[in-house]
Amino acid sequence: MAFQIAPSILAADFLHLEKDIQLVNTCGDVIHLDVMDGTFVPNISFGFSVIDHIAKIATAPMDVHLMVVHPEKWFEKLASNGVQMCSFHWEAAKRNCSKNIDAIHALGMKAGIAINPDIPVEKLFPYIGKADYFLIMSVFAGFGGQKFIYESIDRVARLKAEIEKRGAKAIIEIDGGIGEANAAAVSEAGVELAVAGSSVYGAADPAQAIAKIREAGLSAQK
Ligand code: DX5
Ligand code: ZN
Repeated sequence: MAFQIAPSILAADFLHLEKDIQLVNTCGDVIHLDVMDGTFVPNISFGFSVIDHIAKIATAPMDVHLMVVHPEKWFEKLASNGVQMCSFHWEAAKRNCSKNIDAIHALGMKAGIAINPDIPVEKLFPYIGKADYFLIMSVFAGFGGQKFIYESIDRVARLKAEIEKRGAKAIIEIDGGIGEANAAAVSEAGVELAVAGSSVYGAADPAQAIAKIREAGLSAQK
């Protein structure tokens, strides 16, 4: 199993964004981009003009986490930006999850479904075998720098067990409050892609922070 790190740009220095993207290109694995509309979540982050600029220098794959009420409106634009991974929230899509996955695939991107901590993880089970990845929120979507919700570990383990039972290939991404202290536990439960915002960009040495989170995650798999 892999354990990759996706630094979240939400915690980056927007006055020196190029430097913070280059950090992911050289030391990280995936660039995590949080798009918020102020309605699905009580916060607004950034939109396409920022992603357009990031795309020009991104060599690591871009992973967009849509925290918006109408995710389907943005798939095409994101694909034209060169985004490789696109997730939308189950809470926003409800009955349209399958349709959204098909639309994302038709545009050549990997499709993910995200859920907040208060949604039973079993809601994702119908999409095992269809979605490329599942994004388990380990804080409530909307803000960086929140405290990791411990019960998320069990949620990951239940989802992982079901994926394995069905012999499917979907990977589990976790997002919220991830750092060196909990990387081993989430990795052991089945996480292969860990989003990390404040623990990376808030660190004195962000490159070292990425290395330590990765090392902690991989050590749980030995
Ligand atoms: C929260 C976002 C996260 C956030 C993570 O809604 O989805 O990606 O940036 O930040 P940290 O790692 O600081 O919890
Ligand atoms: Zn996110």
